[in-house]
Amino acid sequence: MAKQTSSGRWKQRQARDPYVRKAHAEGWRSRAAFKLQEILARERCLRRGAVVVDLGAAPGGWSQVAAAAVGEGGLVVAVDLLEFEPIPGVRFIRGDFCDESVIAALRSALGGRPVDLVLSDMAPNISGNWSVDQPRSMALAEQALEAAEELLKPAGGFIVKVFQGEGFAELVRTCRGHFATVRIRKPDASRAESREMYVVATGRRLV
Ligand SMILES: C[S@@+](CC[C@H](N)C(=O)[O-])C[C@H]1O[C@@H](n2cnc3c(N)ncnc32)[C@H](O)[C@@H]1O
Repeated sequence: MAKQTSSGRWKQRQARDPYVRKAHAEGWRSRAAFKLQEILARERCLRRGAVVVDLGAAPGGWSQVAAAAVGEGGLVVAVDLLEFEPIPGVRFIRGDFCDESVIAALRSALGGRPVDLVLSDMAPNISGNWSVDQPRSMALAEQALEAAEELLKPAGGFIVKVFQGEGFAELVRTCRGHFATVRIRKPDASRAESREMYVVATGRRLV
């Protein structure tokens, strides 16, 4: 029997995944859309008219969910390294969120509007070497938290993907110092074998 490549295994897994099929059928750009939907349904931390920053937004599932939730009076500003097909109600900035010029472009797209919710689903290119991937994921989460601290209005929220491992407990502790409520979520659509978790922090305090 021919040996299967990792891309062959990935394609097979995608074809079998019920969330991939559901996303396709319902017009969501990624299965990740269901993770955010589930978190928002439980936390009720996004209202119509809100301003949202979506970091690591491509291909755009979370931005679609956020844009639908905030409606026409709201605003979603999305950032990613990769291309992004336009979504009504979403302003997109292409670039590395760790670059000061991208952060400046984000501030300018917000036009001084205080932010209700910062989302980060940023993930590094997975090398398969956990000792490399986990600290990279943690660095992205820390960068997102810094942005949240700068941009969020009082009582605002922050939802960030983090791979469990070194630095995870420290990040949660820092969030607890800045937000009234911090919960760790593993949505149903998050694959059981994935070490990803979502830190959901609400009620931003001014410290
Ligand atoms: C899991 S995907 C996001 C999926 C997205 N939330 C959705 O619903 O479609 C992670 C994204 O993070 C982006 N990313 C990783 N590092 C980044 C960085 N430094 N700046 C901006 N985007 C980054 C990747 O390009 C990738 O598109």
